[in-house]
Amino acid sequence: MEFLPRRNALALVGTAVLAAGAGLLASGCQQDGPFSETDLAMLRTFALSPLGPDGSNSSADVALAAKLGKQLYFDTRISGPLGPYDVRGTNGSLGNAGDTGKVGCISCHDPANGGSDHRSQPAATSLGAGYTPRNSPTVINAAYAPLWQFWDGRVDSLWSQALAPPEGANECNGSRLAVAHLIATDYAAAYVAIFGPLPDISGFPASGKPGDPAFDGLTSDDQKAINRIFANFGKAIAAYERRLVSPAFSPSPFDEFLAGKSDSLSPAAMAGAKIFIGRGGCAECHRGPLFSDLSFHNIGAPQEGEHAAITDVGRYDGIAAVQANPFNRGSEFSDERTNDHLTGLTAGDDDIGRFKTPTLRNVSKTAPYMHDGAYPGLWDVVNHYNFGGETGLYSGDTDPAINPLLLSNEDLDNLIEFLGSLADGDPLPTADFPEGLTANPQP
Ligand code: HEC
Ligand code: HEC
Repeated sequence: MEFLPRRNALALVGTAVLAAGAGLLASGCQQDGPFSETDLAMLRTFALSPLGPDGSNSSADVALAAKLGKQLYFDTRISGPLGPYDVRGTNGSLGNAGDTGKVGCISCHDPANGGSDHRSQPAATSLGAGYTPRNSPTVINAAYAPLWQFWDGRVDSLWSQALAPPEGANECNGSRLAVAHLIATDYAAAYVAIFGPLPDISGFPASGKPGDPAFDGLTSDDQKAINRIFANFGKAIAAYERRLVSPAFSPSPFDEFLAGKSDSLSPAAMAGAKIFIGRGGCAECHRGPLFSDLSFHNIGAPQEGEHAAITDVGRYDGIAAVQANPFNRGSEFSDERTNDHLTGLTAGDDDIGRFKTPTLRNVSKTAPYMHDGAYPGLWDVVNHYNFGGETGLYSGDTDPAINPLLLSNEDLDNLIEFLGSLADGDPLPTADFPEGLTANPQP
């Protein structure tokens, strides 16, 4: 026994361990062998939990709101003109420069396909009206985050996140006035049923956002009326996104395993799981039901790519941004005003280069990887960790948990196999969405 590598120590704690493990392989190699009780207890901490409530959005769990949100999510008319990069037929362009009404949430987050962008792979970031300086993360399970959205956590709710893309120059390049008019003309009945009376905005300018004379010229009451409709747009979308969670899809092999189907993980995935919770140290940050601590770390992901920002300080700037956000949870647009999470939150040097730990559920479907999409595949990711994160230039200092791992190529393959077992299956039919949770409702 003393000749066994140290890494197998956990598997040898007591004789009950092997019998109790869910493992099936009686192979001589301990590493591919059954899980120990300790391993299993650890793996169970990744089991999906019920989605918590969101008091800041009183429509969060209203079925009508989820239905309206789904329509808005797929509606590309929320967008203004495409920019100069857009040339139809190149790198997933949604049209030609100047075309309007081409970009919606669906363009960069297809829930039928892992929830991220599958069009603009070569440039690693996403092409909307322009190239986003960061890579699009999955929307599936984004609802589980109790506060922070975006890689830098610059918004503190799912609904206020949805207010950024319509006006982002690289995303939809549209405006809140245009969104409000779209709701008033095409979605008024559903809106009123959910949120109450819709003010008459027919005389308002067709488009405009803060900073534009058309919006800034409105009285403050009129601006507030538009902001209210805009916030409710976000709340409807968030209600839909709250449906886009792993339990709405047939279970991943990993979830099946936790549910007791012990043969759903391949031997390689099991070996990978042990590395993930053991020698790889991955669960230090990728823990809990989402495989994320929902916190921010600097892992030294290289700042690279034609359209990525030249430097990106991540959370350092995200903190000031969330404090200043007029739609944060402390704002008048929040249905339950809370400030505790913002009080005393200030950016320190440690925040430089920190990014939110992404969920690893569905990760095999969401290439490219990291906040800037620097890595085309999962092999590049695990290799990054194996080298202790030193694979290129980045801002700030890496987290002390990031160290060279000395894993073999086989270990890395096994880790990738395990990550693959975290992918959900097909969406399950639901009573509220007979056409399917991910099917396009737009004509
Ligand atoms: C042009 C592509 C594009 C479009 C269009 C787009 N997004 Fe995104 N989305 C991104 C990128 C890129 C990020 C990451 C940006 C960042 O963190 O700075 C992101 C981040 C997110 C996140 C945060 C996920 C997380 O875990 O932090 C959510 C949720 C989301 N988008 C939903 C939406 C919704 C809802 C819409 C429509 C209103 C939308 N997106 C439109 C590219 C896009
Ligand atoms: C110190 C915390 C920490 C540890 C330890 C850690 N990660 Fe990460 N992981 C992160 C953060 C933060 C990011 C995003 C970093 C960025 O984009 O700059 C990330 C990104 C990833 C991604 C890319 C996901 C995507 O959607 O782009 C994968 C895959 C991943 N990690 C897997 C692993 C594996 C496997 C291990 C163990 C070998 C590991 N991580 C260890 C924090 C950590």
